[in-house]
Amino acid sequence: MLDFNGKVLLLTGANGGIGRSIAKVFFDLGAHLVLSDLGEDSSSGGEGFVRELDPSGRRVVFVPADVTQREDCDALAKVCRERFGRVDFLVPGAGIYRDQLVETMSDDQWRQTIEVNLNGVFHCCRAMIPLLRDGGSIVTLTSVAAHRGSYQHAHYSAAKGAILSFSRSLALELAPGIRVNTVSPGLIETGMIQHRLEKEGASLVEPTPLRRLGQPEEVAKVVAFLCSDWASFITGETVQVNGGLYIAG
Ligand SMILES: NC(=O)c1ccc[n+]([C@@H]2O[C@H](COP(=O)([O-])OP(=O)(O)OC[C@H]3O[C@@H](n4cnc5c(N)ncnc54)[C@H](O)[C@@H]3O)[C@@H](O)[C@H]2O)c1
Repeated sequence: MLDFNGKVLLLTGANGGIGRSIAKVFFDLGAHLVLSDLGEDSSSGGEGFVRELDPSGRRVVFVPADVTQREDCDALAKVCRERFGRVDFLVPGAGIYRDQLVETMSDDQWRQTIEVNLNGVFHCCRAMIPLLRDGGSIVTLTSVAAHRGSYQHAHYSAAKGAILSFSRSLALELAPGIRVNTVSPGLIETGMIQHRLEKEGASLVEPTPLRRLGQPEEVAKVVAFLCSDWASFITGETVQVNGGLYIAG
């Protein structure tokens, strides 16, 4: 059993499907959590989730932040410093996934996807690095779209591809004290792929050899493993969690 007692996790996109699972897994392993997502005026509703997870409010705090805003990420770091004095684990998980062909993609559509999925990760990592202790760990989230491309998702695919090389570069910069790895999910059953499920139905899982969608907890457990001492000699790596979608022809 992994033990995160006394460790501090900062997680963005914390009220999403995968984010909530990561929060639950780390909470159950004893960690203190700084959970962040868009604020109450958005559809996020992250504060309600935090009250459910930790009614005592002793181990979990919710901090609204828009990761596209540098100031929000800096403010997030300030909360971590004031409340816990440090961060042990950073998972910059916020993301958006919109369908659009390149030919008809507006500048705004391109920029928004890059802003959230790539610049947001940069903003969070830069703000948190001074708070990360030796023995700490960053786990970024990319996608099978980064490796194989994705029809109607060139902007998403490009951002997630950049996350791979950003994370490897950061692993070199932060060694030997801090490990940096990436988890690359395939199709995971969350709100993010709801529109594709509605459109494509059961055929959506056909290319996946395990013939089902992944569950958010199956991603969260790999994130926890990579943060833990069980992964103490792993850095700059990418772990595929996609039921074989990556290797399928
Ligand atoms: N679900 C999948 O199939 C899948 C596959 C591969 C990769 N991923 C990646 O996993 C991560 C989590 O995805 P998910 O499936 O939980 O999606 P989700 O849509 O359920 O959650 C994403 C969360 O990010 C938040 N967010 C969006 N824009 C933000 C911003 N500007 N600032 C702060 N928060 C913002 C949303 O409010 C939401 O809570 C994402 O990075 C996603 O790209 C998901």
